[in-house]
Amino acid sequence: MQRTPLIAANWKMHGSTALVQQMSAALSELPPTNLTIVVCPPATLLPRFSQVSSFALGGQTLSHEVSGAYTGELSAELLQEAGAHYVIVGHSERRTLNNEDDALVAAKLKRAVAAGLIPILCIGETLAQRQQEKTEQVLAQQLDAVYASQPELLAKSVIAYEPIWAIGTGESATPEQAQATHAFIRQHLAQYDTQSAVRAKILYGGSVNAGNCAALFQQADIDGALVGGASLKPAEFAQICLAV
Ligand code: G3H
Repeated sequence: MQRTPLIAANWKMHGSTALVQQMSAALSELPPTNLTIVVCPPATLLPRFSQVSSFALGGQTLSHEVSGAYTGELSAELLQEAGAHYVIVGHSERRTLNNEDDALVAAKLKRAVAAGLIPILCIGETLAQRQQEKTEQVLAQQLDAVYASQPELLAKSVIAYEPIWAIGTGESATPEQAQATHAFIRQHLAQYDTQSAVRAKILYGGSVNAGNCAALFQQADIDGALVGGASLKPAEFAQICLAV
């Protein structure tokens, strides 16, 4: 295996101090493996994780600016001070609800890497785009916007393929669909840097749960998962970690 797996929890705007404690307890019981686990809670909960030995923490977004008069924004450094080592960049909810375009996503990823955070870059197509057979075109555009002019950032990134039609719907991509798309992504990444493309962790996200994760993880180009809803249930998230 050329790549070690990574499973990330995206709590989105959910969670509580109680969930921090429950998740910490559930993850502390997992046997030691080469799996990297990353929990991305709302930023206010990052400092509530007191014992972070078996997993890492991440933010859900960051500012592309270093600091300044940007009310409500969080810089890479502030996230780091709160305990984050990773940060999700370009999640489809940010792209849609907060109008984050490809150029802003590219700037955020660059800022994350410059500060020493590991970005988890989210890409994915809508249902209409898939039905129009535009999936590869959309993913290539999202990747090119970030890496075509800064290919050196690929070696420092994690990619998450999240078909928008599978997010929060209970309808995951099939393992075959996901594998085919991950293989395309890896092939496309090779245009920027062949070695980094082979080494890049490409996570699948979209309605991953304890029941469907094992078949996804068996696919050659799926290196883990970005888990939303199921990551709010510590026992189920631990089961997903055990399945990789
Ligand atoms: O970041 C996580 C994804 O949006 C997936 O969410 O597992 O609830 O479908 P989900």
